This record gives sequence, structure tokens and C-alpha cells, in this order.
Amino acid sequence: MNSDEVRSRFLKFFQNKGHKIIPPASLIPGDPTVLFTTAGMQQFKSYYTNPASADKDFSGRNIATAQKCIRTGDIDKVGDTTHLTFFEMLGNFSFGGYGRKEAIIYAHEFITKELGLEISHVTFYKGEGVVPRDEESKDIWAGLGVGDIRADGSDVFWGPTGDSGPCGPTTEIYCKNAEGQDVEIWNIVFNEYFCEGSREKLDKGEVKLKKLEVMGVDTGMGFERLLATVQKKKSVYETDVFNGEQIKEERIVADHIKASLFIISDGVAPSNTGRGYILRRLIRRAVRFSKQPLTRQIEKVKKIYEGVYELDDKGEIEKEESKFRRTLKHGLKEFEKGADPFTLFTTYGFPIELTLELAKEKGKKIDLEDFNRKMAEHQKLSKTSFAGMFKGGLANHNEKTIQLHTAHHLLLAGLQAMVDKNIKQRGSNITEERLRMDFLCDHKLYDEEKKKVEDWVNDKIKMGLNIVRRELLLAEAEKIGAEMEFGAKYPEIVSVYFIEPSPQSSPEGRGGNSPISIEFCGGPHVKNTSELGHFKIQKEEAVAQGIRRIKAILI
Ligand code: SER
Repeated sequence: MNSDEVRSRFLKFFQNKGHKIIPPASLIPGDPTVLFTTAGMQQFKSYYTNPASADKDFSGRNIATAQKCIRTGDIDKVGDTTHLTFFEMLGNFSFGGYGRKEAIIYAHEFITKELGLEISHVTFYKGEGVVPRDEESKDIWAGLGVGDIRADGSDVFWGPTGDSGPCGPTTEIYCKNAEGQDVEIWNIVFNEYFCEGSREKLDKGEVKLKKLEVMGVDTGMGFERLLATVQKKKSVYETDVFNGEQIKEERIVADHIKASLFIISDGVAPSNTGRGYILRRLIRRAVRFSKQPLTRQIEKVKKIYEGVYELDDKGEIEKEESKFRRTLKHGLKEFEKGADPFTLFTTYGFPIELTLELAKEKGKKIDLEDFNRKMAEHQKLSKTSFAGMFKGGLANHNEKTIQLHTAHHLLLAGLQAMVDKNIKQRGSNITEERLRMDFLCDHKLYDEEKKKVEDWVNDKIKMGLNIVRRELLLAEAEKIGAEMEFGAKYPEIVSVYFIEPSPQSSPEGRGGNSPISIEFCGGPHVKNTSELGHFKIQKEEAVAQGIRRIKAILI
């Protein structure tokens, strides 16, 4: 039985039992308190407290789904035989339509008759506090001839997901895997209670349970684990939703790329916050474990789900991959040398979790508190640095001013390269029409000098050099000689713009293959100097003793 068949048999089975089949919800839940869809019941949370609305929305109380899910809580276990960050969950749900008896009888029939599997043991809730021991479930199982029935504690009490929600005792079904071990196949939750707080608060005894008006049923069957059992495979990677990955690293890549493809297909892009950050972490972790470019893996995943899910990563995975591969090697070297996690994050793009993982592998200690403190400062700065850029009211970041701003950086580097390496900036002003720079210089520029500076800048424009923003500690930025405005006060963490050298160039002034320009700056800038057009100095004059002013334009 292949994956498509198992999935459709499940849905057909419940359809025949009077359930409406509902399409899977997006991985991005409507519930803002949860980052991703982590369980089949999530899109149906509100029906447990308002069951009458199910009649309206589904013309009935009973439904079933095959739901795509993301769970990253066990990300460090991915690579063993069962843990995944992306998985599908088969589930049947009832909002007052039926209770324990039907739920257990359906599950038993599906597992033993439809799939022909043997149930090795089941569990039931032993009771605690206001929730009584689940004798009813125990008796139903016994009536079905299941011999091994075990009482269990908080592991068989489920929910709530997010900040609050329905929850209740569960009964779990275990079957033997190909190695002869018991694996949990199906979790059947009886949503009899509503919890006003999170699971964490419930476990600490900080919140109480309220009995729901009608009992709900919420079941979840991990699809990949089920497949491994049905197909008698030793790991989920040997089923037909993977490609037989054996080595841990290959398995991590296969899992993470699958998760990333699904997340992007539901509209998330890599970023430094929230869902985008988790996505970034998955891709970067895959890059770390993959010696090959990720393209082939992306294609393999698409092929597995052809005709079932529409997957399109819109080039995002490869974009993220190329960004991270550029810094990964250097970052790893810096890590070996003892670089702190904040620098690894801001300069080399290492998510903190990756640094922690590396530290664990190497038996090193990480000062998380220090990292968090620096991050808090960094975030404060990121918010203000953009606004801080055009001092003196130039608030309009349109295309022209952004181009002139980059030209401004090139001009300073050009003056240092062609006139005097000690030239320092004393002030700047940019409008849509022109840039203006004041700088320390002991003489009026000769015509040849102006011409040389112009040519130098235009040469760099023609070279098509990339402009890159990095956030560095003030001390580090000073150490690498970043240009700062004379007399200006800078925070502990600063935003620095680099105009990168072209691979063929040996730029004058800074020599070798080092950046053409490094300046403290809040941005924004163009991405590449080729976007600038032609640079022309319009005027050079004195503003004060030892201070000169240049006005220049781009045409
Ligand atoms: N909500 C339960 C789970 O996620 C059953 O679907 O396991």
C-alpha cells in the first residue's frame, strides 16, 4: 500500500461513516498564538466550544482530514527513525456527534480490518485532580478483545494548543514496527474540558479546567509513522514519502527541505523573526548538513507529492542557501576561534540555535544571557538605524536619493584613493538632485584630481560591485577601519555598509581584495554599483578653513 492509497483509504473510511472530508488548512494558522499548524484539530478549535456552528459550516458534526503539520520542538531528534519537522496527520473529529464508544470502535476497525495491522497495546488516562480515571475507554477496548491495556499519566492528557483551548484525556494505539518495538500510531483525544491558559500553566497548576458543554473527539494519526508500520519499514525514510535516506545528515536535509518547501508554499519567506526565522533556521541547518547544492533535494520532494500538494519554493531556498554558503565556512572558522554567538549571528548569519548545537557537539559553553542582551540592543538599533540615516530631514528614501547615497560612499573612498588617504568626512546632505559632502582637506582640489576621482568612481560603478550591510560591535567596526563621521556618537552595535571588491579587481587605496569602502551607515543603499549611472562632480568649494565641499550628481 503506497502513501496515496493509505491517505485515501483513511478519508474514504470515515466518509463511509458519515464524516465530511475537509481539505487541509494552511500551515499558517488563523490562531495568532501558534506559529504553525501543529495538529489536525487546530483549524477546528472553535467548534469544540461552539459546536452548533459545525452544523452550519459542515452540515454535520463529524469531519475528517489529512492535515499537513510542522513541529520543530524535537528538531534535534530529526535523523532518527521517527522524528520529523514536517509530517501529515490523519484525523477524524466530532463536535458532539459521537463519543468514546464510536471513536474507539472506528479506530479499531480501521487499524485491524482496513489496514490489517495488529494492535500491540493501548493506553487510557489514570485520572488526576478533577479529571477522573477513564474506565469507559478501558472497558471499550477490553470489549473489542484488546488484551494489553495500560493506565498512563500526563502523557495521555492532551492540549490545549496555544494560549488556551479544548483539552482532555486520550487513549493511544500502539502497533509493532519492523524492529518489533511498540510505536504510537494513533492518539484519540476526548475534549471534555476547556483550559483558560497554556499547557505549561495547566501543568504548573496555575489555571483550572472547565467542563465543556458537549464532549468533542479529536484524533491524530502520524501519517509517516503509520506508513512505516504498514509498509514494514525500519524508518520513515524508507517509506515512499522519502527516498531511503540512511545517514543522519541526509535525513536531516530531506526532512528540513521538505518542511521548508511546504512552509514557503504557504506564503512564508525567510527572515529574522517569527515564522520566517524558523524557516531560515531549517534551510540553514539543511545547508550545514548538505555537501551538495539543495536543488536536487527540492526536486525530489516535489516529485514525492506530485498530484497531492502544489509545492513551489519560488527560488527562496536557493537564495537563502547561496547567502549562507558564502559565510558558513568563515563562520565555522570563527566559531573554532571562539567568536561570540552574537557576531556569528550578525556577521555570519548563524541562527543562535545553530551555534548552540555546534557548542554542544564540541563541548563548549555559550553565554546565552550575553547573546540575548546584545540582541535586544541590536533590535533597538535596527529599528532606529533606518530612520537615522539622512540626518537633517531627508526622510524620503526614493530611488534617486538611495543611489546618491551609495555614490556618496564611493566619493569618499575615491577621494582617499586619488587625493589623500587621510581625507575624512565632516558632513553630508543628500537630496533627490544631488549629493553634498564636506570633508577635511588642506587644499583646493586641482582639476586633474577632480577628474581622477570622477574616473575612479565611474570605474567602480562599471565594475558592478555589491553593497552589503552588516551589523558589528562598535569596537570591531573601528578595528577594521570603518569610516565614521567625525565627532558623531555611535551606539555599541553599529550598522556598517561594505562595497565589496570584484573578484578581478585590485582596488587602489585599500589594495588587494579588500572592500572598496567600509562606512558606518544606517542605509539604505542600492544592491550593486551598476545601478548608479554616471557620476559627475558639479562643484568643489571651501566651507571653512581646512574643510572642502563637493556637490555631485548622477546622470
Ligand atoms: N490533537 C491531538 C494530537 O495532536 C490529536 O489529534 O496528537
